[in-house]
Amino acid sequence: MRVGQGGNGPGPLTPDGSAVELYEITQIHGEDELISAAIEPGSNILELGCGTGRVTRPLLARGHHVVAVDESPDMIARVSETETICSTIGDLRLDRQFDLVLMMSYLINVADDAERLRLLRTCAHHVRPGGSVILQQQTPGMLRGPAVMVNEQRRMEISDVEELPGNRQAATLTYTIDGKTWSQRILTQNLSEDQLAAQLAEAGLQRTGYLTPDKTWVRAQLN
Ligand SMILES: C[S@@+](CC[C@H](N)C(=O)[O-])C[C@H]1O[C@@H](n2cnc3c(N)ncnc32)[C@H](O)[C@@H]1O
Repeated sequence: MRVGQGGNGPGPLTPDGSAVELYEITQIHGEDELISAAIEPGSNILELGCGTGRVTRPLLARGHHVVAVDESPDMIARVSETETICSTIGDLRLDRQFDLVLMMSYLINVADDAERLRLLRTCAHHVRPGGSVILQQQTPGMLRGPAVMVNEQRRMEISDVEELPGNRQAATLTYTIDGKTWSQRILTQNLSEDQLAAQLAEAGLQRTGYLTPDKTWVRAQLN
């Protein structure tokens, strides 16, 4: 397990505490539509932290080409429809550039500046000139708790929220689907616009826009 993160529940868990079985049955919530609208048809995509391919498959179905990367062999084993690479994001160095490097799931909010820079350097290394890096980030107020969110598919509870120095937060996320329950303790860091801009610049990137008004989806490009 990574520092500050852990999980429990049925089936295998990844080093960041994500549950493989949970992601296998979690539905897409329009992420593919949002991403696809922001790129050219038939784009070559490098997806970092693909999990079980929840977003990979819909992107393939929309006609894009996806290379899917995850550090968890248990996660990546569920992705059989395209090329996969089992690697940590920070260590990945392919000799190929992509139209889009996609890093979702708030991985950018890792509460460690050095690790965040490593993630961004991997994004910068793999995006072609003129191509895009798309990041999904946590924004202030997202991790407010205690709270319970229920939809037709699942129940999600946010509890034990701790506000920590440096805009960091710890929280427990508990998901229940079809009578199965998984808990994940997360540690995240909210980034101000200036902080993210500075780290993007250190990695050779610049923010060129947002995909959504709430600024959770960020587009960056090579400087
Ligand atoms: C919360 S899951 C989300 C998976 C997928 N993006 C989705 O939305 O369904 C996060 C995934 O990122 C992977 N991951 C987290 N940190 C990583 C890292 N540093 N290198 C490679 N994979 C990582 C985990 O193994 C896990 O599969």
